[in-house]
Amino acid sequence: MKNKRKIISILLSITIIIFFPILSISKDNKNYFFTYGENECYLDNFDQICLTPGENETMLNFCWYSKFSDGVSKIKVYEKGGKKVIYKGKSTNLGNGFISNKVTVNNLKENTTYYYSYECDGMWSKPVEYNTKDFQKYTFIFMADPQIGASSKKMKTYEDGIKRDADNWNNVIKKSLDKSCNPSFIVCGGDETNTKEDDRDLSSIHISNLEYSGFLSPSYLRYIPVANAIGNHDKDNKNFYNHFNMPNLTNLGETIAGGDYYFTYGNALYLFINTNNLNMYEHKKFIDEVVERNKDIKWRIAVFHHDIYGGGKHKDEKDVKYIRKNLPNILENNKIDLVLCGHDHIYSRSYPIKSDKEIMDFKVEKLQNSNEKVDIIKSSKGITYITGSSCTGSKFYKQPKDKSKYVKKIYHKKIATYTVIEIGKNAINIVTYELNNNNKPVDNRIIIQK
Ligand SMILES: [Fe+2]
Repeated sequence: MKNKRKIISILLSITIIIFFPILSISKDNKNYFFTYGENECYLDNFDQICLTPGENETMLNFCWYSKFSDGVSKIKVYEKGGKKVIYKGKSTNLGNGFISNKVTVNNLKENTTYYYSYECDGMWSKPVEYNTKDFQKYTFIFMADPQIGASSKKMKTYEDGIKRDADNWNNVIKKSLDKSCNPSFIVCGGDETNTKEDDRDLSSIHISNLEYSGFLSPSYLRYIPVANAIGNHDKDNKNFYNHFNMPNLTNLGETIAGGDYYFTYGNALYLFINTNNLNMYEHKKFIDEVVERNKDIKWRIAVFHHDIYGGGKHKDEKDVKYIRKNLPNILENNKIDLVLCGHDHIYSRSYPIKSDKEIMDFKVEKLQNSNEKVDIIKSSKGITYITGSSCTGSKFYKQPKDKSKYVKKIYHKKIATYTVIEIGKNAINIVTYELNNNNKPVDNRIIIQK
């Protein structure tokens, strides 16, 4: 019986090795999937580079795959007519035919047009324009659970599902850019892709590679950095670590995808907590130390995948309950102003919460010259937790019958949402839209003051 299983598993692996490259170079999918063909080697496909915010607003992190490396990864950056500066970084041989290249660029000035070009297999990519924004008053987009590949179950093939989700990912980024004013970056609340890579299972590795190609396929990602939380679908996937160049990455709260990390941008500190690791001692150490190191920065925003005060079905799960019992106290002691999550695939927003109690006394006003309602929240009263819906619509869950007492607003229509967040000197301004209607927000506008 054991031998029979072994033979089946070997035959399956051989089939996948032979047929997978054929699947992935199909012409229809060329814009979405890696090209494995002998002479193609990304010659027409330099579009898989991913930008991530750097350690602070003057820095920018890059990561891309190549097939060959001379041991050093290189990016060339310049202003129009200016001197070209080459930044060098680390290249890591992944042992699967690919090299992961990670480079950090620094000394960027605000409101400036740059061009960058990166080296891949001995060739320089075409220059890409990248514009820095205002460093003090700026917007960013928050979205969650693109989970590229999750709709494959409803489609004929995996490839169809990945293509559909990648299209929708491209579409939601486009809509959010149309609505916001030149955002500085995107924050994604985890579950960037669907398949949990498993070293022992060749088919899941290959499907995961395709999903990452889909995630990285929107051309917007060539000039808008994206900071990703580690979701439960990402936590054991090396592809996450190898595709994203996370700033100030620590080994605290670590899983295979990476650990807790942070960056600052203007007057805000962003802490990405890997809540798949339940070691609260390590998360506390990370948050305490990072907040202390950046104590003069006004706004503190935490991002993690598990929505402990969300409105969906995950609220009663053992891990979520454990995090809800242990993490808020650490966040409150460190005066976090806002928390962004995913996991439930249903948009919800909590009341301000302190010591596990929802705080009801906040002002609701009308926006000047409009009927739009605004919830004015003093961050000292409690932390607001926002959960993003599935931003691609790749998977939705039913809303549970019992409404969570922590939830101020829930939007459970099976429609993707995105949130536009503006960081100002005296307030954080938050407004959430559904994909197909950018005139009427799905929730009151939220203004957090401190
Ligand atoms: Fe998810």
